[in-house]
Amino acid sequence: MKAILVDEQSPERALRWAEVPDPVPGPGEVLVDIHATAVNRADLLQRAGNYPPPPGAPPYLGLEMAGVVAGLGAGVKGWQPGERVCALLAGGGYAEGIAVPEQLLVRLPEDWNFAKAAAFPEVFYTAFVNLFMEAQLQPGESVLIHGGASGVGTAAIQLARAEGCRVAVTAGTPVKRTRCLELGAELAIDYRENDFAEVVLERLGGVDVVLDISGGAYLERNLKALKLKGRLVLIALLGGPAASIDLGLLLRKRLRLIGSLLRSRSLEEKTAIVQGFATRFWPLMVAGRIAPVIETVLPVQQAAEAHRLLAENRNIGKVVLTVRE
Ligand SMILES: NC(=O)c1ccc[n+]([C@@H]2O[C@H](COP(=O)([O-])OP(=O)(O)OC[C@H]3O[C@@H](n4cnc5c(N)ncnc54)[C@H](OP(=O)(O)O)[C@@H]3O)[C@@H](O)[C@H]2O)c1
Repeated sequence: MKAILVDEQSPERALRWAEVPDPVPGPGEVLVDIHATAVNRADLLQRAGNYPPPPGAPPYLGLEMAGVVAGLGAGVKGWQPGERVCALLAGGGYAEGIAVPEQLLVRLPEDWNFAKAAAFPEVFYTAFVNLFMEAQLQPGESVLIHGGASGVGTAAIQLARAEGCRVAVTAGTPVKRTRCLELGAELAIDYRENDFAEVVLERLGGVDVVLDISGGAYLERNLKALKLKGRLVLIALLGGPAASIDLGLLLRKRLRLIGSLLRSRSLEEKTAIVQGFATRFWPLMVAGRIAPVIETVLPVQQAAEAHRLLAENRNIGKVVLTVRE
C-alpha cells in the first residue's frame, strides 16, 4: 500500500506519498481500506519530530480515518467485509490501509460520506472525554472553550450546547467568532483585543469549566475566569509549557487543574470513551443535530498544503484528506 512518509533529511520535513508494507490485522483487529483521513495539530508536531507515536502504533501520521472493512483478524465477531466504518487511531491514518482494534470501529450512517466520517473521531472524542469525563461538565453549567473555531472547539461547542450548557469561546478572527455563535456559543471573545477573563467574569459571572489549548500563557487568566469549584482541563500547550501562578487562587476557589492526552491512553480507556460517546451523543449525530465542521477536503497527496492551513490558523473546523474516491 501507499502512505505519507516524512523526509527527515529535508529542512521542511517534506511529505511523500510512497510505497510501504501492507498492514496485517492481528487477533481482534479489523483491516480497513482507508477512503479518507483528517488533519490534527498533533500531526504537525509528529512531522516536526516532537510527538512520536505510542509503542505499537503505525509510524505514519494520522489519528483518524474512514473506510471500508477489507479483512478480519482472528476472533473478530462483530464486523463483515464491505461495511463502512470510521475510527480513532493512535497513528497511521495517512495511508491506504490500517488494522484497527474492533472495539474502536464505528459503523457509518447511510447518508454519511467518508469525508464527514473521517472528520469526526479525534475532535469529538477529545471534546467528549475532556468536557464530560475529565471535567464532569453538568447540564446548565458554563464552559469557556479556547480556540472555539478549531476542530476540537467546533466539536466542544456542539456537545456542550446539546447538554444544555452555556458556552463562551475565544477565537482570533470575526469570521471564526461568527461561526462559533452559529454553532451555539453565546459569547465569542476577541482575545487579541480583550482580556478574556474580564469578559467572562463580566458577562457570565465566571465559568464552571475551561477547555484550554494554550497552557502557560493563559493559566493565570483561566484560573481567574473559573467559578468556585471550577475545573480547568489542559489539552495542549500552544502558549508554552511554563507559568507562575498564585496557588492561593486554587485553594480559595477549590479549583481543579487537569492535564489530559487522548492518544497515549490504553485500548480499555479508548473503548470506554467510544462507548460513552455512542450512548450519549451518537444518536444526535445520526439525527444530524451535531456534525463535524469541515473547512476543506484535499487529496492526501496535498497533505503538506493541508498542514499549512492549520499552521497558519486558517481553518475553521477540520481539514480532510481523501485517500480513495
Ligand atoms: N490532549 C489531547 O488529547 C488533544 C486531542 C486533540 C487535540 N488536542 C490539541 O487541541 C488543540 C486544538 O486542536 P485542533 O486540531 O482542533 O486545532 P486546529 O483546528 O488546528 O485549531 C487550533 C486553533 O488554535 C488557535 N491558536 C493557535 N495558536 C494559539 C496560541 N498560541 N494560543 C491560543 N490559541 C492558539 C488558533 O485559532 P485562533 O485563530 O482562534 O487563535 C488555531 O486555529 C491543538 O493544540 C491540539 O494539539 C489535544
